[in-house]
Amino acid sequence: MSERESQHGHWSSRTMFILAATGSAVGLGNIWKFPYMAGEFGGGVFVLFYIFCVAIIGIPIMMAEIMLGRKGRHSPINTMRLVAEDEGQSKWWQALGWMGVVAGFLILSFYSVIAGWTLAYVFRVASGLFEGQTAAGVGSIFSEFVSDPERLLFWHTAFMVLTVYVVGGGVRHGLERAVKYLMPALLIILLLMVGYAMNTGYFAQGVKFMFYPNFEALKAEGAIKDAILGGMGQAFFSLSLGMGAIMAYGAYLPPKTSIASAAISIALMDTLVALLAGLAIFPIIFANGLEPASGPGLIFKVLPIAFGQMPGGSIFGTLFFVLLVFAAWTSSISLVEPAVAYLVEKRGMSRRKAAGVCGVVAWLLGIFTVFSFNIWSDVHPLGMFAVFKDKTFFDLIDFLTSNVLLPLGGVLVAVFVAWLMKRETSCNELNITGATCGYPLWRLLTRYVSPVLVLIIFIVGLLRL
Ligand code: PHE
Repeated sequence: MSERESQHGHWSSRTMFILAATGSAVGLGNIWKFPYMAGEFGGGVFVLFYIFCVAIIGIPIMMAEIMLGRKGRHSPINTMRLVAEDEGQSKWWQALGWMGVVAGFLILSFYSVIAGWTLAYVFRVASGLFEGQTAAGVGSIFSEFVSDPERLLFWHTAFMVLTVYVVGGGVRHGLERAVKYLMPALLIILLLMVGYAMNTGYFAQGVKFMFYPNFEALKAEGAIKDAILGGMGQAFFSLSLGMGAIMAYGAYLPPKTSIASAAISIALMDTLVALLAGLAIFPIIFANGLEPASGPGLIFKVLPIAFGQMPGGSIFGTLFFVLLVFAAWTSSISLVEPAVAYLVEKRGMSRRKAAGVCGVVAWLLGIFTVFSFNIWSDVHPLGMFAVFKDKTFFDLIDFLTSNVLLPLGGVLVAVFVAWLMKRETSCNELNITGATCGYPLWRLLTRYVSPVLVLIIFIVGLLRL
């Protein structure tokens, strides 16, 4: 069969694809979410399980998503329909694309709110607000900030406008430069932060917290199950898998590029950034006698302490938050791309209009997250179930997407490529050269290992059996 063409254009090169996909993967998930989840789940067990999931489940599924995207060359919804047709499967597989679009809206709704916090912190750090502040002072500045719904709405709106602006203009504009220069800059600043953390005298304690599986910390009822489910969810979230973001980007991939090496380098970079963020943050937490389990506000309560104390901290801190905004921006773009591409294909909408419509929907959903930190902080919509007892709207949306929808989407992708797609198709598409066992290993992992592992984790973690 002849190659399909994408109506949305191509990446200019393979490197450009890797940059864009890395831009999607590296974001708040690495620097905001990873540390607070690790803190919440007692460190080591969560971190090690997360790394294990990235390697065993994440990389093979990422390869599968890129491959499907490149074969279908459309938005994930149409890609799944077309590829399923090619392979003689039901057109119902497009439901997988729809599920991804729903997950994308839900994630973007809270992602934009948190990215809004980051944007606000650019100005707060720049104004010197944290200079000479104590840890307690920094903490109360944060609490006061999130208690004001109007302010959060303002920043949420500002970030959503930025996202819509770039998506509307076509994803490739600007993305290349943003990722090419800003990502290395983010890496350098993280390394400098790790250097600062090394001088706190608590570096060893931070390393131990992150890499030593401390089952003592997970004694509470169900805590280990939560850590395992959370570790798997974080692997999907952080790699942008299971909702079609990578599939949508794969649709613009030039033919005949190696998918395996691209997936491996994206995953390595993503994991490196998360681990560096952890290594920078935990020593500062211990040095200031703070609690690792401080929830979603963790980095906002911890990093400004360091910026307030180090020489030139305000400049340095401003730069850090600016780079984090860019990292979040390159991720949020990929969260709406599947929906926007679909509206353009199906409804013939202009990209600008499609991006605007999607932005409004995600913005409205984001109001639930904004209120979760203030006027609805005591509202627990599923409080009748013990597992969801203290969960706010934000907690529930986060739980549903990371721990349910993304792993489910990922596993369905794995089942499709490894059980339903002809072996010959995937073998040709992946064209793994160099390692002779490469293809059989990929097939083994997608055919048996990931579906079984995710199923077990669902049974144990979600159903609490
Ligand atoms: N991977 C992104 C991050 O870590 C979030 C994301 C999830 C983006 C799913 C796209 C799809 O911040």
